[in-house]
Amino acid sequence: MPLMEGKNVLIFGVANHRSIGWAIAQSLSREGAKIILAYQDRMEKYVRELAAKIPGTEVILCDVQDDAQLDAAFAKAGELFGGRIDTVIHSVAYAPASELENPFLETTRAGFQTALDISAYSLIAVAKRAKPYMEASGGSILALTYMASLHVMPKYNVMAVAKAALECNVRYLAYELGEFNIRVNAISAGALNTLAARGVSGFSDFRSQTAVIAPLRRNIEQSEVGDSALFLSSDLARAITGEILFVDAGYNIMGAASH
Ligand SMILES: NC(=O)c1ccc[n+]([C@@H]2O[C@H](COP(=O)([O-])OP(=O)(O)OC[C@H]3O[C@@H](n4cnc5c(N)ncnc54)[C@H](O)[C@@H]3O)[C@@H](O)[C@H]2O)c1
Repeated sequence: MPLMEGKNVLIFGVANHRSIGWAIAQSLSREGAKIILAYQDRMEKYVRELAAKIPGTEVILCDVQDDAQLDAAFAKAGELFGGRIDTVIHSVAYAPASELENPFLETTRAGFQTALDISAYSLIAVAKRAKPYMEASGGSILALTYMASLHVMPKYNVMAVAKAALECNVRYLAYELGEFNIRVNAISAGALNTLAARGVSGFSDFRSQTAVIAPLRRNIEQSEVGDSALFLSSDLARAITGEILFVDAGYNIMGAASH
């Protein structure tokens, strides 16, 4: 039987065909999942075009900074899915451009709040609203993080702080939701050329470094994150929660730049 047969999946964070969220939608739908894409207002056109490529896929407006939109999105998803959501994918991040260009020391209070609100708090906001639709039969919530939470990646700045908070959210949510058989994990993806990544000055250097330094001596592709998300969302990963899984060609294990 396909791994996601009969599973209802709500995905936050598709902007265009390069989005990690879109790769996840493709991997999960390939294995039988029904998909809803929750989009930010300005992405509507692209998200509708992409949704049309997977028959039966629905789209719902949702800005994760807006509690009313979150409430409405979950009510609508619950209705479309007949009251049960099995998997939620959180593939959302944002920091004002200036925060990713200026020195970290110049991080502003407003920029910090925005980055942490959209990129970290939103996982709690999403998990809280997903719980009523998951608790009867269990579920899986998956976020996307980056190794800059652990090691300094110049110019990742406040987004690294947001990722550290996001990873901590994963552990606390996993603890509280575990008794309902709701698993919460994150994938720490290697550098990928997406809209969000292009906002970080020097991001292309992260990819050129990976190709040389990573044990697999190459960069990763979106589809490889999609397939790992498929594993974590499926029953194959039923005993895994609170975990951060690196999907980065092994880059994170390296201490020295070359051998
Ligand atoms: N690209 C990489 O190298 C990389 C590496 C590791 C982790 N990640 C993470 O993967 C996730 C997806 O990013 P991506 O690289 O696919 O880029 P992307 O730009 O395609 O996706 C980011 C998404 O966040 C959404 N978003 C931003 N603010 C929002 C808001 N207020 N409400 C709702 N949605 C909002 C955007 O609409 C977009 O769909 C992010 O969490 C990112 O940090 C990316």
